[in-house]
Amino acid sequence: MSIRIAPSLLAADFANLERDIAMVNSSEADWFHIDIMDGVFVPNISFGMPVLRAIQKHVQKPLDVHLMIVDPDRYIETFAALGSEILTVHYEACTHLHRSIQKIKGCGMQAGVALNPHTPIQSLSEIIQDIDLVCLMSVNPGFGGQSFIENTFEKVKEVKELIENKKTSCLIEIDGGVTNKNASKLISCGADVLVAGSYVFGAPDPEAKIQLLKKA
Ligand code: DX5
Ligand code: ZN
Repeated sequence: MSIRIAPSLLAADFANLERDIAMVNSSEADWFHIDIMDGVFVPNISFGMPVLRAIQKHVQKPLDVHLMIVDPDRYIETFAALGSEILTVHYEACTHLHRSIQKIKGCGMQAGVALNPHTPIQSLSEIIQDIDLVCLMSVNPGFGGQSFIENTFEKVKEVKELIENKKTSCLIEIDGGVTNKNASKLISCGADVLVAGSYVFGAPDPEAKIQLLKKA
């Protein structure tokens, strides 16, 4: 399977969402990455359920929803009803992570766990067999357009090793500061999914940027 590309709608033009969604639909991108922020877990608020409901009507590719919110269990059923195919919660935001994962799967979605840049990979050792995706934050969550944290390359290799040692399968997604400058190295370290916001939507020809990442 070639690298999957998940453009982050956080960097789209919110006054022209339908146009930007159509661009992703017709591009080589694989998923839509949706960033939900609550102003508590991260120092920013993005958008919520009514906007996602509007987005859902237009997308023709899987919704990869990244919850940057405290106590995400409160909304798991809601995000399932809104068409999320993959639902990712933060390790740092879940007191009972195993329960959250079971609940996500019980609602028929794939379960992802995101790690902040300072959280060690070993934190996943007792949960890696139960999840479908690990999202490594390569910036501090909360904002698009930040610079990629170089230490991520080592973390990708470490999580790949953990997955192999535990004889399980799980996708490795990288989120934050992804561009054509770090994409091929991330892939060679073991990344399966690249999220890209400002690199894609900040360009005059976003489809061409998606194509560049796809070929990295
Ligand atoms: C950051 C979000 C990212 C963000 C990535 O908290 O989780 O998905 O949209 O944006 P770029 O690619 O601009 O770093
Ligand atoms: Zn994200």
